[in-house]
Order: sequence, then structure tokens, then C-alpha cells
Amino acid sequence: MAKIALITGATAGIGEACAELFARENYNLVLTGRRLDRLEKLAGRLNKKHNTEVAVCAFDVRDREQVISNFENLPAKWKKVDVLINNAGLSQGLDPIQNGNLDDWDTMIDTNIKGLLYVSKVVSNWMIANGKGHIVNIGSIAGKEVYPNGNVYCASKHAVDALNKGMRIDLVQHGIKVTAIHPGAVETEFSEVRFKGDKERAKKVYDGFDPLMAEDIAETIWFVVSRPKHVNINDLLIMPTAQANATTIVRK
Ligand SMILES: NC(=O)c1ccc[n+]([C@@H]2O[C@H](COP(=O)([O-])OP(=O)(O)OC[C@H]3O[C@@H](n4cnc5c(N)ncnc54)[C@H](OP(=O)(O)O)[C@@H]3O)[C@@H](O)[C@H]2O)c1
Repeated sequence: MAKIALITGATAGIGEACAELFARENYNLVLTGRRLDRLEKLAGRLNKKHNTEVAVCAFDVRDREQVISNFENLPAKWKKVDVLINNAGLSQGLDPIQNGNLDDWDTMIDTNIKGLLYVSKVVSNWMIANGKGHIVNIGSIAGKEVYPNGNVYCASKHAVDALNKGMRIDLVQHGIKVTAIHPGAVETEFSEVRFKGDKERAKKVYDGFDPLMAEDIAETIWFVVSRPKHVNINDLLIMPTAQANATTIVRK
């Protein structure tokens, strides 16, 4: 029977690239995100290309009732999840703390921390029942360092870093692997979302250097997931070659 990966935030960027790669590797997929049209299109494409079976769940990870009911309503065969990729996340704004927008703060904390927790609670219990599983949490360089005006986004990703460690301790007795992947700059819709649709400002983030692509992160996740049963990679920081840390990027 094909293995199953559940990927949150599969409508764009890293999540979508993971869906493509895991489909190619013969996984069946549970794909989530708010934009149903994108999920359905992706599911159709993967089914045609790789014969992948896909369950689509459109919901907002911030809404705990929606998370629970969407997952609980899945047919039993979809609850045998082998790999959970906790990827849904975002940044909103880039302002000094004193000028921060309270709604942006709520959105980041509710999505990046609470959403990840709601999903993990349901899926980790499925994994415990199945006696195996691998949770891959998408953190960030922002979860390792704090950069100017990054305050709340960085705090939310530091929380993911801490939760990654905590989950590993709690789930190790159940044979469940827990890994964090922390990317530097990846060119996705991330900056467009951060700058609320300002495409020009978003584009400037990646000007003059080669950023990571979503596929680079998907391949790294695949490497981590395809290690032998007795090997777990706890934590992995991956950067564009031109980026040394959160604030040092060499631009041409
Ligand atoms: N790009 C980077 O430079 C970078 C660097 C380090 C870490 N990361 C992390 O990588 C992850 C993926 O980001 P990305 O770069 O691929 O950005 P992206 O292209 O904007 O994709 C983000 C995904 O998250 C989903 N999402 C956001 N809010 C959601 C919500 N409330 N409910 C459900 N799904 C939600 C989006 O789906 P819908 O909008 O359809 O809901 C989308 O599929 C995030 O956790 C991000 O923090 C990114």
C-alpha cells in the first residue's frame, strides 16, 4: 500500500513543491490550505501525472474546530499518515515592535504556532495509533536568529523550534520521528504575503542573489524522510549560498 503524506499549506511554495515530489515518490497525499481551487487543481494534476490519490481539505489552520472536523471526517484509510509536513505559515508586515499591527501579530501567532499545534495534536494521535510516523516542522532562520523588524514572526518561528524539540521528547517513546527544517530566503509567495500583495517590494527581497527555490526545500525534506528507520535528523538549517545568516546576504 502506498504511504501517505499530509502536507499543510500545499496551495503554494514549499508545500506545493513537497506535494509534487512526494507524489513522484509514489506517496498518496492529504493536502490542506484555504484555497480550494488551487488544491483541486493540484490534486487533478498529480493524479494525472503520477496516479496519486489525493484527499483535499480546505480550511484555515487558525480555526481549531475546522482543523478537527476536517481531519476527523476523513475516511479511516487517510488516517494512516506516515509523514506530516507542518508547513502552513506566513509572515505579515515588517515593522518595529512599537509600530506593529496587532492583527498581523494575531495572524502570525495563530497560524504559525496555534495552527501547527492543532494539526499536530490530531495527527500525532493517529501516528501513535499506527505505531509510527514522521513529523517535519517547517521553521525558519527566523527561528534561530532575530532580525530587525522581524520581532513577532521571529518569535513565532522560535516557538516552532521549541515545539519541534518538545514534540520529539514526547513522541520518541512511540517511535515517531520529529524533524525541523529551517530555511533561509526561499523565493515563493512568502514575501508577497508579508507585504500584502505588493509584488514590487516582494521581488526586491530576492534581488541580486540566487535565493533557494521551493524545490530545494522539498528535496531536503525528502532526504530527511527517506533516511533508514533508525536514523532521525533532528534539525536542519538550509540557506542560499549567498546568505550567511539572517541579515547577511551578498547581492551583485
Ligand atoms: N519563503 C521563505 O523565505 C521562508 C523561509 C523560512 C521559512 N518559511 C516557512 O515556510 C513555510 C511555507 O512558506 P512558503 O515560503 O512556501 O510561502 P507561501 O508560498 O506563501 O505558502 C504558504 C502556504 O501556507 C498556507 N497558509 C497560510 N496561512 C494559512 C492558514 N491560515 N490556513 C491554512 N493554510 C495557510 C497557504 O495556503 P492558503 O493561502 O491557500 O491558505 C500556502 O499554501 C511557512 O511556514 C514559512 O514561514 C519560508
